[in-house]
Amino acid sequence: MLQRAAAFAPSNIALTKYWGKRDHTLNLPLAPSLSVTLAELGTLTVVAPNPELAEDVMMVDDQELDPAGMAKVRRVLDAIRLRAGSQVKAGLRSVNTVPTARGLASSASAFAALAVAASKAYGLELSERELSVLARSGSGSAARSVAGGYVLWHAGESADGSDSYAERVFDGEHWPLKILVAVVADQKKKVSSTQGMKMNAAGTSPLFRAWIDQCQRDVVACQNALRDKNMRALAEVVEGNALAMHATMMANRPPLLYWQAPTVALIHAVRRLRDEGAECCFTIDAGSSVVVLCEPQDARAVSDELASVPGIEEVLQTRVGGGARLVGDAG
Ligand code: DP6
Repeated sequence: MLQRAAAFAPSNIALTKYWGKRDHTLNLPLAPSLSVTLAELGTLTVVAPNPELAEDVMMVDDQELDPAGMAKVRRVLDAIRLRAGSQVKAGLRSVNTVPTARGLASSASAFAALAVAASKAYGLELSERELSVLARSGSGSAARSVAGGYVLWHAGESADGSDSYAERVFDGEHWPLKILVAVVADQKKKVSSTQGMKMNAAGTSPLFRAWIDQCQRDVVACQNALRDKNMRALAEVVEGNALAMHATMMANRPPLLYWQAPTVALIHAVRRLRDEGAECCFTIDAGSSVVVLCEPQDARAVSDELASVPGIEEVLQTRVGGGARLVGDAG
């Protein structure tokens, strides 16, 4: 049965990163990665199958989605329609509560919301693993936005990607950290993660192979630090992993440099705060903004300190959240 359906999916921030693919069409990673799911920040998507439409159409934050974005959306929709035995096109509308394209992964929440809403709209009952695989085919990191809490994305080995999915390893209550996003004033980022990963594929950066090997070890160390709720150990692996990813990008030819001056100032601020006793650590995605994880009792002081760094537009505060879900109002 075809029906209008709506879903919300949260954004996620990788604690150990996905940066390198073994398949650029299916978004199959070369290494596993681990992330934390953000409460509140994410994407709400409505999917309305409509037999009168000749093509799928999608509005994102009241603007029509560009052809490159639409091609990725169609890939997910076509996979769903194939399983559902339907050829009916759909009208889609989505609203982001994440600042788009600032290095905060809005594509992750977008494709997770799409997978959940569209599978319901086309009458499929899919498992979380199947939804994760579907979301991944739109954007790799979206595989991790289906589950909530602390999430592990298995790299998988199969060529069709059926074993490359994400699942929760700890729920948010296990370690209810606060998550601060220090948004650096910047123009929209110029090189998307998809483009960046293509540029940074094996061979163009002398550090790339070593980076992928490091990810295999980091994901284990990160999971242990989370299990033990050990901030010192978490800081070592999370900061080391993010810096290694950016080092790999910077060593690329041509180089990929996402940082702005305030990005570096934020790194120093977090290290100083930790030296002074605050339980916190930072990470940075493919952008200039800095994400800081901290213990709830330190959140106020850390947030104030981040906000005082020149060039910071705002500091968003959130916590570890639940996974993607259908929402009642599809209107
Ligand atoms: C730096 O998932 O946006 O945020 O698979 O090409 O859509 P595509 O890339 P995307 O890459 C995210 C890269 C990252 C690290 C991470 O989230 O693990």
